[in-house]
Amino acid sequence: MDLLRVKPVEPATTEESPLRRELGGLQLTLLGIGCIVGTGIFVITGTAAAEHAGPAIVLSFIISALGCLCAGFCYAELASMIPLCGSAYTYAYSTIGEIFAWIIGWDLILEYLVGSATVAVGWSAYVVSFLSGIGIHFPAALANAPFVFKDGWAVSGAIINLPAVLIVLAVTVLLILGIRESSGVNAIIVAIKVAIIILFIAFCFPYVHPANWVPFIPPSTGFGQFGWTGIMAGAGVIFYAYIGFDAVTTAAQETKKPQRDLPIGILGSLLICTILYVLVSLVLTGVVNYKQLDVAAPVAYAIQQVGASVAWLRPLVELGAIAGITSVILVLLLGQPRIFYRMAVDGLLPKVFTKVHPSFKTPHVTTAVTGILSATLAGLFPIGVLSELVSIGTLLAFVIVCISVMVLRATRPEIPRLFRTPLVPFVPIVGVILCFAQMVFLPPNTWIRLVIWLVIGLAIYFGYGYKKSRLNA
Ligand code: ALA
Repeated sequence: MDLLRVKPVEPATTEESPLRRELGGLQLTLLGIGCIVGTGIFVITGTAAAEHAGPAIVLSFIISALGCLCAGFCYAELASMIPLCGSAYTYAYSTIGEIFAWIIGWDLILEYLVGSATVAVGWSAYVVSFLSGIGIHFPAALANAPFVFKDGWAVSGAIINLPAVLIVLAVTVLLILGIRESSGVNAIIVAIKVAIIILFIAFCFPYVHPANWVPFIPPSTGFGQFGWTGIMAGAGVIFYAYIGFDAVTTAAQETKKPQRDLPIGILGSLLICTILYVLVSLVLTGVVNYKQLDVAAPVAYAIQQVGASVAWLRPLVELGAIAGITSVILVLLLGQPRIFYRMAVDGLLPKVFTKVHPSFKTPHVTTAVTGILSATLAGLFPIGVLSELVSIGTLLAFVIVCISVMVLRATRPEIPRLFRTPLVPFVPIVGVILCFAQMVFLPPNTWIRLVIWLVIGLAIYFGYGYKKSRLNA
């Protein structure tokens, strides 16, 4: 039973918050969009349409959004009960027990650390595409993953994805020096991202050939390849594009009226992103046949296919994608070190991870470790393998979060909740079903990688954290 020991909860409402309550619904919505819109829409939509869903990728986006919505409400409830850094790891530790906290913390590494590597690979694709547009041809051997996975692992002939490595290291240095995302800078980046997406939709829509949408759901060629299973597999893959909205919930303590503003932030950012994603994917698959979309920078590619009349749009879209994706890398690389830090404070990771830099006041050890690991992954592995691993890991975290809300309503009804998930248990149950369904349709290899990852995590827990946990004292 020791495995289920919990850290005492200090509910949000009883402790004096050192943070100022300044954020309203609009700022939270912008915060959400800033963390959400990135590599997913600019890169992964192309491969997901080409390999899994065809034009029906639109349906994948809607299904995935519904799962996110249910999980988002559950996240908000937990965040408003236990508003400490460390996200779902902290919630689980105070509620369902240490071993679950460890599993979720270990699993969140897939969302944040592997996630940042994935986003960096997408960033690299747009940088290379932008440079080639202005006549600078970056050597392919230095801008691609040396390892690729089709039916098995193989070498691609490339040496390293250098731009991806460099952006991760640059952002890491910024984060160590103490540059935080401020809501002003975020609002500008969000405005740029959203504006270029709207430009793309508006100017490319007239070049849609409805024939490209037929058949809307291409006939299945195997499990997870087109047909209905393909739509679900597509949802699992593009789920990645929604990751980041959980960041909204972490601002619970800095929100003026959490009960009103959190749902506005979650619903608002998810709704706006869903509408943008659905329209972008309709235009993409309408302008170009889905079979051609298996490329690194599909939005830029589609503009190129339309031809000279919209050629002016390509550098704008590329620059917007580069700026927009950078902010997502920043948020992910900001989150991971704080989860490591929290786990180390609790004794589950080595004490050196609790170090805070004396003058920069940032967790510099965990930030550097995160940056080096992320840069290594970004330099060596292809986007598909990384993003599927990120999706399955994050979906698992969402499933656990939805379950935790139901468990806590039964076991700890007395803890005040600044925000309550509507229609419990219906919403959490739908969240579990939709998130788990998206996991089921991810490729078997991704499951194997997830299981290996969790087994390594449990080995570390039993070899280290279980004995060193501060709850042992
Ligand atoms: N949702 C984020 C992106 O698409 C992770 O880049």
